[in-house]
Amino acid sequence: MNPEIKVAPPGPKAKAIIEQDKRYSSPSYIKEYPLVVDRGEGPWIFDVDGNRYLDFMAGIAVASTGHSHPKVVQAIKDAADKFLHICGTDFYYDTFSKLCEKLAGYLPSMGPKKVFLTNSGTEAIEGALKLVRHHTRRQYIIAMKGGFHGRSYGAISLNSSKVGQRAFFGPLVPGVIHIPYAYPYRCPMQKKQAECMSACSCGTVLEKDWFLNHVDPREVAAIFLEPILGEGGYVMPPVKFLQDLRRICDEHGILLVYDEVQSGIGRTGEMFAASIFDVMPDVIVSAKGLGSGMPIGAIIAKEKVMTWPRGSHGSTYGGNPVCCAAALATLEVIEPLLPQVKRVGEHMLAGLRALQKQHKVIGDIRGTGLMIGAEFVDPKTREPAGQYVGELEQLAFTKGLLLLSCGKSTIRFAPPLVVTEEHVDAGLKVLDACLDELDERHGLKGSAPLDEKL
Ligand SMILES: Cc1ncc(COP(=O)(O)O)c(C=O)c1O
Repeated sequence: MNPEIKVAPPGPKAKAIIEQDKRYSSPSYIKEYPLVVDRGEGPWIFDVDGNRYLDFMAGIAVASTGHSHPKVVQAIKDAADKFLHICGTDFYYDTFSKLCEKLAGYLPSMGPKKVFLTNSGTEAIEGALKLVRHHTRRQYIIAMKGGFHGRSYGAISLNSSKVGQRAFFGPLVPGVIHIPYAYPYRCPMQKKQAECMSACSCGTVLEKDWFLNHVDPREVAAIFLEPILGEGGYVMPPVKFLQDLRRICDEHGILLVYDEVQSGIGRTGEMFAASIFDVMPDVIVSAKGLGSGMPIGAIIAKEKVMTWPRGSHGSTYGGNPVCCAAALATLEVIEPLLPQVKRVGEHMLAGLRALQKQHKVIGDIRGTGLMIGAEFVDPKTREPAGQYVGELEQLAFTKGLLLLSCGKSTIRFAPPLVVTEEHVDAGLKVLDACLDELDERHGLKGSAPLDEKL
């Protein structure tokens, strides 16, 4: 099957809905392109005018099992038939306890764990912030430049990927220190790679500057980071970066917190990206793919870290019975799918590398499993060139391929985890046509020879 555009989007029905939305919905919403969804099935989305799109962004890396997976939908229906709410903070039910047990069972090398269920990624980040301060009785938090953790106050205080997320919302939560993330392919400070590796990835920033000049490490509660940068550009750090952070945490009694809201629940071909690096954190924050689209997140912490007492934290809806049922069904679908995610991811990487040879506007291609980023560059200078990314997104939409950018100049490929090689080929065919058009529009064909290193 291929994408099918019958009516140039947005068609008449889509336009009517967009008009209504513009009139009444908050102007803070982004609305990347005028996609108006009617229904979804697996990796396919159908709009209200009958167009069929191939979804390579999964509702921002959320629809892990594809759209409306029958097992997930059935679990939701069965749970809804029984009861909608009782409040997991105050009472017990089977699916809540089962989900906590299930999530605590992943990453056995972290040792025994306990789980707190939330409604979203940002709520899980807020909870994790409270947990690490409460457990350590320390105030400072270290976060990463380029990181993204959500939209609530604690989360935006950790964020450092787009200034608009923080602008005019201050004062933010105090005590947050931002250090550079390790970019193995290109330092955002435009330093050479070797320089970047020593400045960013050996903990030198912390050990040679922050801990000597600004903050006593005995006052640092935790280091929060995404083990693979999501909104900041789908960046995989060198493993040494995470090893160094782990060492520094162990030396100073600091907790290491992985925000796996985007990289977790099978997206990388492992249940959590921590396994890829084999560097374990003390706390994992999960959400997005966990409920296949139902609002649920989790703080998964070492038992010896989740020490906050009865009543110190709670959530009315966090882990509500319908979402817990969806999450349990999601995990049942995802677990056996992991080898396929790795295999299809390799296929996608190979396909993108083939396109890179034809289209010099594609720079670095990186990622693992179905968390893949393609950086767009100026074909002559090889410098990141964000101007092409938005245009490509729009172009792909009009041809039936749903893409999403991240960082300043990267297109992320984060399809539902159920995609096959055939889906990938169909999507890359559309992408190739879009790139041809982009090359044509901007005279990008035959610019400079492709940098061998990319
Ligand atoms: C890494 C990461 N953390 C946290 C969040 C926030 O999650 P939510 O939108 O569910 O609050 C996101 C959302 O994009 C994310 O990518």
